[in-house]
Amino acid sequence: MQLNNRTYQIQGVKVLDIADEFGLPLYVYDADKIIEKIGLLRSSFSGVNLKIKYAAKALTNISILKLMRQQGVEMDSVSVNEARMGILAGFEPGQIMFTPSGVSFEEIREAVALGLQLNVDSLPLLEWVGQTYGSQVPVSIRINPHISEGGNIKISTGHADSKFGISILQRADILALANKYQIQVAGLHIHTGSDFKNADAFLKGADVLFDLATDYPNLTFIDFGSGFKVAYKKGDHITNVAELGRQVSDAFQNFCQQYGRDLELWFEPGKFLVSESGHLLVKTNIVKDNPTRTFVAVDSGLNHLIRPMMYDAYHDIKNISNPADDESSVEKTYTVVGYICETDTFATDRSLPEVRPGDVLSFENAGAYGFSMASNYNARFRPAEVLVYEGKPYLIRQRETFEDLLRGQEIIEFEEELVK
Ligand code: LLP
Repeated sequence: MQLNNRTYQIQGVKVLDIADEFGLPLYVYDADKIIEKIGLLRSSFSGVNLKIKYAAKALTNISILKLMRQQGVEMDSVSVNEARMGILAGFEPGQIMFTPSGVSFEEIREAVALGLQLNVDSLPLLEWVGQTYGSQVPVSIRINPHISEGGNIKISTGHADSKFGISILQRADILALANKYQIQVAGLHIHTGSDFKNADAFLKGADVLFDLATDYPNLTFIDFGSGFKVAYKKGDHITNVAELGRQVSDAFQNFCQQYGRDLELWFEPGKFLVSESGHLLVKTNIVKDNPTRTFVAVDSGLNHLIRPMMYDAYHDIKNISNPADDESSVEKTYTVVGYICETDTFATDRSLPEVRPGDVLSFENAGAYGFSMASNYNARFRPAEVLVYEGKPYLIRQRETFEDLLRGQEIIEFEEELVK
């Protein structure tokens, strides 16, 4: 989003015009931002066969998946339904990694029948795959490397106490099962957590995989997961993707040369590709002065963007109706809250250009895990979604209606008023 002549714009389209045309609350995504991030990731890796598998859980809209595909990005899924959306978007099933955690064997059967690349997250599942498919289905193995990374414990997945992956201490058990059932181990995978701060931890994870890879001569890829930290706040320490790309590419090339391997290097970024592209636009309902605070209540809440409440995540807020474009603009301190019957605070004591009822605010960096974690709590509609592509806003999800809230409910016809 750019500020030109005191007007916020996305690809030259005025954000207030988008709000007028499509209504609020509204998720707006900037396709150029997504394309820019894909380019940045690609240019950071050299001399390796890089495959980007977009972690679709971050933002699952089919038009976004189609944009990824158009840009030569493949897909990572965590449920068969997510994968089906990918197939609808035009991906070949074989381009879709399926990384389930603790799902039923029925779902695994469906995934295999669809032709997804299966990533195995537990020894019992590996045994079941061996018994059921023997050497027929190439699998990848998700390793828990016992490396703790991630912005907070809820999104750290590589530590010893995490539910994810097969512990690296069970390395011998993995190999024994693979040998017993002649399982084709095509890939190795780690994902240590989202928002990692420390690229060294990432490289340590890579070393674990390189060492393990010596057990499996027929690998075709190594998947390093994701977790690239993006800047939610000015001055945030973010992942230096260019530097990380150089280091991982070097380590990868060394490994391939040393062991005579010809492997693909996979990443599965979610946030890095879509976070910055997304803006949640909301309308200010009420500005109220309490003895201790001034509250701004907006027509949104934890049902639309749960990250601030769930992870104490910081999202920058812009007053689209009252842009601050110079040092002299007057700022006031507000606590921005939602309309849900819970304490759904988006931001506490935030300094913003004056906010008036009716003003349009934007929560920034809302592309990843925004809409995809939205719900109908309090019988509220989820927002509509718009993608700005080549200078034009496209509606990519309609606003919900009351019928959507009722869909699927079976209504019992009780006898009338037994108790008066
Ligand atoms: N690969 C695997 C196996 C994952 O579990 C995840 C995220 C990713 C890739 C993508 O990670 P990313 O690039 O987005 O960091 N809702 C939380 C984040 C949960 C991440 C879950 N797994 C949040 O809003 O911070």
